[in-house]
Amino acid sequence: MTGNTTLQRLMTEELRDIYHAERQLVKALPKLVKASTSPDLRDALDNHLRETEEHVSRLEQAFELMGETPKTKSCAGMLGIVEEGADLIRESDKGPALDAGLIAGAQRAEHYEIAVYGTLMNWAKALGHDDVAELLSSTLEEEKAADAKLSELAETGINEAAKSGTDDEEEEDGAEEKEEDDDESPRSRSSRKQPQMAAAGAGSSRSTSKSRAGNGRGR
Ligand SMILES: [Fe+2]
Repeated sequence: MTGNTTLQRLMTEELRDIYHAERQLVKALPKLVKASTSPDLRDALDNHLRETEEHVSRLEQAFELMGETPKTKSCAGMLGIVEEGADLIRESDKGPALDAGLIAGAQRAEHYEIAVYGTLMNWAKALGHDDVAELLSSTLEEEKAADAKLSELAETGINEAAKSGTDDEEEEDGAEEKEEDDDESPRSRSSRKQPQMAAAGAGSSRSTSKSRAGNGRGR
């Protein structure tokens, strides 16, 4: 009995997690639709957006069936996946290569969800919530179908089209990576600044705040 109580609590937490994940996807998918060039990809993503809205409402039903109030719990996994997708869109021109990248990002989201729904479905069964298991199973099947559709789109043209784009970016790769490092790693930035600050401090009293005004970034 105690075991079941624990699994029930775990399941509620996991439902909250995926509830947050699905709601994030409802916001993120329209951005992927907008960024994609292939009409088939747009259709697939748009179709999955509608399904995702349904997944949200199925989860609300699942909460109710389990006697719980629908609540979200921040899903760091999906937050990361969504953020990577947003970065890709920001850094890329529209075209087949971005389409291939969008598929990769969307499939990451799908695989995450497939893992979660598979687990939740089994937990629901173990807890005797067959009605909940059935709801989760419908969603799981749609996630798998969406994933398969994305693979099909990649394999039947988008990857091939992405290959034939002009590839004069190779030389710039190094420079781009450096830029990214600057952007994405405030820690490395501050560690680079520190010697400068130390150097500035070496020849002047600590209270000379002029050099600090330039380097100090408020942290
Ligand atoms: Fe979903």
